[in-house]
Amino acid sequence: MKKGKTILRQPAELLFKKELTALKKADDYPKPENWQLSPQRVVDFIMGCQLDKIKISPKYFGDRSLIEIAVATLATDRALLLTGIPGTAKTWVSENLAAAITGNSRLLVQGTAGTHEDQLLYGWNYPILLAKGPVPEALVPSPVMRGMESGAIVRIEELTRMPFEIQDALITLLSEKSMPIPELNQESNAISGFNIIATANDRDKGIHEMSSALRRRFNTVVLPLPESIEMELEIVRNRIAPELMAERDKKADKSSIEEIKRVITIFKELRDGKTIDGKLSLKKPGSTMSTAEIIGMVNNALAMAVYFGNRKIDGELLAKNLKNTIVKNQDTDLIPWNEYVEMVMKKREDYDHFYQVVAEKK
Ligand SMILES: Nc1ncnc2c1ncn2[C@@H]1O[C@H](COP(=O)(O)OP(=O)(O)OP(=O)(O)O)[C@@H](O)[C@H]1O
Ligand SMILES: [Mg+2]
Repeated sequence: MKKGKTILRQPAELLFKKELTALKKADDYPKPENWQLSPQRVVDFIMGCQLDKIKISPKYFGDRSLIEIAVATLATDRALLLTGIPGTAKTWVSENLAAAITGNSRLLVQGTAGTHEDQLLYGWNYPILLAKGPVPEALVPSPVMRGMESGAIVRIEELTRMPFEIQDALITLLSEKSMPIPELNQESNAISGFNIIATANDRDKGIHEMSSALRRRFNTVVLPLPESIEMELEIVRNRIAPELMAERDKKADKSSIEEIKRVITIFKELRDGKTIDGKLSLKKPGSTMSTAEIIGMVNNALAMAVYFGNRKIDGELLAKNLKNTIVKNQDTDLIPWNEYVEMVMKKREDYDHFYQVVAEKK
């Protein structure tokens, strides 16, 4: 890489290269064929642990047994489907699992309404096809085919955004572990280590149901929302942009964390439709209120603080973004938001600085 050019977002296998190397050295457990790490060490990578010389950072905050189920599934001949509402770390977990198991998280098909079968199976290099006809060198393998032939984990993002006829192209290859290529009168066979991690969210518009035949070939793991405010705070703190963190005044840390905690509380109460003490029930906004949005909001406030403010995240900066982040759809979110501002925020003394901003009194 040329000096002065920083890759904006490194793949997990590079981002956590040191951790993966250390785990490999410390791995005495049996490994499935073509896995870089044993299932135990893959779970350690995702959940975090302390090795002799290095701390493995936690990537997923939540129930360890969910990750154990996911990893165990990948060692069987069933594929793994991670589902859940938006922002519950499906993509993040899938990337880190592929990085730990195969050492490459980039065998990836992005599902969209326009995904074509070629992107799941194989396509053709037309100049060669026209010159020589259907010969092996004219074939362009998809990431799925490359994963099959090299015994690697392939990721399919947003599986249910693909029309279901396209999704169904996976059925045969998942059960037969081979992909017929009738034009060449041959087939591509998967070797050990190949498997698929698909992600799908069940909330957004434009989702196509999976056929039951395809669903049966997957083991489904549902990633839930964080259980408690403390856990959600851990997640947010971990995902705050490190380059902004480094710029920040360390002394500001404690009060900023308290402010972030207030934001998490607001999200949780609206999401649950009741206050934390359970005394007041609230209208729930129709849009999702995910951790990912809190992370985005905090990073935004931090950037504003670093570049335009006094380098610390204060309540005012966060409050300025609150309404925009929460009210995504006027029809379904505005009434619950206004109710929350007047019924909850206004009455809490320690939220007064938030209230002053959101009620536009400042
Ligand atoms: N339980 C969690 N543990 C660790 N990180 C989390 C957790 N929940 C959310 N996050 C963070 O939230 C962000 C969004 O996660 P991600 O993009 O993986 O969500 P997703 O479930 O794929 O959402 P979508 O359905 O919108 O694609 C990531 O930065 C991720 O680290
Ligand atoms: Mg995702």
